[in-house]
Amino acid sequence: MEDILIRLEEMRNAAQLGGGQARIDSQHAKGKLTARERLVLLMDEGSFEEWDMFVEHDCTDFGMGDNKVPGDGVVTGHGLVNGRRVFAFSQDFTVFGGSLSAAHARKICKIMDQAMKVGVPVIGLNDSGGARIQEGVASLAGYADVFQRNVLASGVVPQISMIMGPCAGGAVYSPAMTDFIFMVKDSSYMFVTGPEVVKTVTNETVTAEELGGASTHTSKSGVADLAFENDVEALLELRRFLGFLPLNNKEQPPHRPTDDPLDRPDMSLDTLVPANPNKPYDMKELIEKIVDEGDFFEIQPTNAANIITGFGRMEGHPVGIVANQPMVLAGCLDIASSIKAGRFVRFCDAFNIPIVTLVDVPGFLPGTAQEYGGIIKHGAKLLYAYAEATVPKVTVITRKAYGGAYDVMSSKHLRGDVNYAWPSAEIAVMGPKGAVEIIFRGDRDDPAKLAEREAAYREKFANPFVAGQYGFIDDVIRPHNTRRRIGRALSMLRTKDIQNPWKKHGNIPL
Ligand code: COA
Repeated sequence: MEDILIRLEEMRNAAQLGGGQARIDSQHAKGKLTARERLVLLMDEGSFEEWDMFVEHDCTDFGMGDNKVPGDGVVTGHGLVNGRRVFAFSQDFTVFGGSLSAAHARKICKIMDQAMKVGVPVIGLNDSGGARIQEGVASLAGYADVFQRNVLASGVVPQISMIMGPCAGGAVYSPAMTDFIFMVKDSSYMFVTGPEVVKTVTNETVTAEELGGASTHTSKSGVADLAFENDVEALLELRRFLGFLPLNNKEQPPHRPTDDPLDRPDMSLDTLVPANPNKPYDMKELIEKIVDEGDFFEIQPTNAANIITGFGRMEGHPVGIVANQPMVLAGCLDIASSIKAGRFVRFCDAFNIPIVTLVDVPGFLPGTAQEYGGIIKHGAKLLYAYAEATVPKVTVITRKAYGGAYDVMSSKHLRGDVNYAWPSAEIAVMGPKGAVEIIFRGDRDDPAKLAEREAAYREKFANPFVAGQYGFIDDVIRPHNTRRRIGRALSMLRTKDIQNPWKKHGNIPL
């Protein structure tokens, strides 16, 4: 017995060392933590239970028969984050570059299956040179086994990818199917084909960072949701982020007690909207003033910044917030913002997170670039997402709600549950100036007459009362009471229960 215990200890120590001290040092020299160090930071102290530490690959080609490392390049298991269970895998770049062998894939699949059985999130810490080249198609099969599980788990348990090193080729498609992709600046990159292949095929010269670094994916492509400065910040923020999510789709999101009173008025909101309707203001200020303790976890802050998406809490209950941002493109909806917000709304709906929508939208962004790019189809994604969502939906129109964009932004007509407007709301087909230029075209050469017509149109529509007459908004609220009114609506909606008609799945415009 004693012998076997000593052997166990030796084997554990060997596995802990991964690819050996030299490679660990090289990992540190790149500013990266090792796979196990990352898990220590992610999980509550002492809570991580590792599985499959002794798994080895079964490849014998290219001298691999004599080249085995216990664990085979990925550390898997479960643990607690702020007392709540998660499963995680953490790829170990010190072992065969974290590359994915059949055995490595089996380890990931095993924890994904278990996470599905017990209904808890799956977190992937990706740091891998891709498919294990020595294994060929067996490795590709391993990827597909993971992809299949990503798809089946989608909408059942939250799946989050933290890219902390290379993630290239087929490897990108597992993170791509998870709910959120976070990246670490300067040390991570994602691309389908690397700079050398790009050079050969398209003759473009580009670095790995330019092609697929964190700033590229959080601003240009929108593939990633957030970029962090380093491994430590990334993992601590991931812990904070998980506090907004339920463990699975049958659970309500976690309640966190708060001392922030719901009826806290904020008088500064009464003057947030400028008197001049063309002057922007920062919608983020409104968000931070209405959520508990000003704590807002923004998603995709640098991509499509004309719409703001993120998580906050009201009375301790998580909410998803979608808000037009008048500071960027006047808050217009365009292709990128529709895709960003559409996906966010669907995530919230899948995981029982009520949606608060703050509206100041002058319409869809005009132009050939938008039309040729398919704004019709992409704008429809956000419309579809809102219309499909059955979670509580509370909307506040702060200023403009013009045209089709009014309908899209969680209007009453798309089953908005409680729709409020500030007194400064203007709900109309378009702005007064544009409207009179079309309907009173004959007065084009008479500026005085046009101004008169514009004033009349403004009087009629540049207020919330016409919509109020129809019952399209439930009340006109004073801005300083916004937090209390939203919170009260959400509290009333806590027992909301509606179902969509049975279907295999809808056909969202893709
Ligand atoms: N399969 C098998 N081993 C791999 C591997 C892979 N896909 N990717 C990396 N490795 C091994 C390397 O052979 C090296 O082994 P060694 O330490 O015994 O010499 C180790 O992992 C570290 O790789 P290295 O190339 O030294 O690290 P790097 O930081 O300089 O470069 C990459 C990282 C990912 C850019 C580079 O390893 C790479 O291009 N890998 C191949 C990527 C690929 O084409 N994958 C297949 C397509 S999905």
